Amino acid sequence: MRFTLRIDKLTFEGFRNIQPGVLTPKPGVNILYGDNAQGKTNLLEACWLFTGAKSFRGARDSELVQFGKQQAVLTLQFQAGDREQEAEMKIAGRRHLTLNGIPQKSAAAMAGRFCAVVFCPAHLSLLSGGPEERRRFMDTAYCQLRPGYLKVLSEFQRILTQRNTLLKTIRSGEMPTGAASDRDTNALLDVWDTRFAEACTKVTLARAAYLRHILPIATELYDGLSGQKERLGISLISPVNGEIRDPSALCDAYLAAIREARAADIGAGFSTVGTHREDLQIEINGTPAKTFGSQGQQRSAVLALKLSEASLLREVTGEQPVALLDDVMSELDLTRQDFILNHIHDWQVLITCCDPVAIERQTGGQVFHIQNGEIL
Ligand SMILES: Nc1ncnc2c1ncn2[C@@H]1O[C@H](COP(=O)(O)OP(=O)(O)OP(=O)(O)O)[C@@H](O)[C@H]1O
Ligand SMILES: [Mg+2]
Repeated sequence: MRFTLRIDKLTFEGFRNIQPGVLTPKPGVNILYGDNAQGKTNLLEACWLFTGAKSFRGARDSELVQFGKQQAVLTLQFQAGDREQEAEMKIAGRRHLTLNGIPQKSAAAMAGRFCAVVFCPAHLSLLSGGPEERRRFMDTAYCQLRPGYLKVLSEFQRILTQRNTLLKTIRSGEMPTGAASDRDTNALLDVWDTRFAEACTKVTLARAAYLRHILPIATELYDGLSGQKERLGISLISPVNGEIRDPSALCDAYLAAIREARAADIGAGFSTVGTHREDLQIEINGTPAKTFGSQGQQRSAVLALKLSEASLLREVTGEQPVALLDDVMSELDLTRQDFILNHIHDWQVLITCCDPVAIERQTGGQVFHIQNGEIL
């Protein structure tokens, strides 16, 4: 068995409720168990922050620092790219990061350096929540796969914000900066419409590419999880459908839709059409999982997506990401639990639970007891 990417050691100081200390996970399955509110999820969160992404709990950086402390310091020793590496993260207002002794511009510089996938119960909102959750899922996952996508996304966000500012100005009856007449204003909007259509096209193409990659893996995983009894379906619901295969036709379709919405956009004071309105349809046996799926089915669907994220990362980067699984087993029947444990047995996994016995028996994993923020 060979592990290309793994956490060797994680040290903590001033992070959430975790007491100063060290976690030394082994290759393979690591079980973090303990009563409620002891710090299990906090430990996974600390690992996750080294991917460069925001907290999977949606926490602000300042909330990660222990109450009453000025800063938190986390260090991660990990094996990636066939060498031992060390990252240090200081959280004080924002995250400051050093990788192998070299200060990085931002924590996002870790994207593609240390890869992990995380499942936590809050991710069930991927099904139950609004479309922004599903867009975030695709975008976060694709950023790890293609770190350059982060730039595409921030460029998209910048253009969207600027177009919205322009729309608000026009709605308020003011003349936008750089315009002296209605004709100038329309010309300005033409420019922003084109930029916006191009940005939308790039984002949709990226999300479509991501789905193309992940769909066969996720459906196969879901087959396994459900004991071949159920079928998962996922599709992208774009504001302009049917053009995905031809980028310039897609861009034309966006431009036409954006132009058509101009009057409505000015009335609203924001962009009513664009990739910021895109959604994913997730189905089980042909019906929307959000409306008709049972709790176990919904959990399985989200898990299938998360585990395929890991498989896809391995295919593309050649490295198996670390899996962080928070309270993954509840609400799953034994077939589904067995399938997961079989599937992950040769990854490095950090898995939290209240009772470690079943997982330990099946995986022979390393067990850590978490009590009041202490790793025992
Ligand atoms: N910034 C912080 N400073 C100090 N304590 C914090 C901070 N943020 C969260 N906590 C505390 O950390 C505790 C443990 O949280 P965590 O979510 O890790 O528990 P858990 O072991 O995963 O519990 P459960 O089994 O219920 O999921 C909570 O009681 C919370 O109040
Ligand atoms: Mg928890």
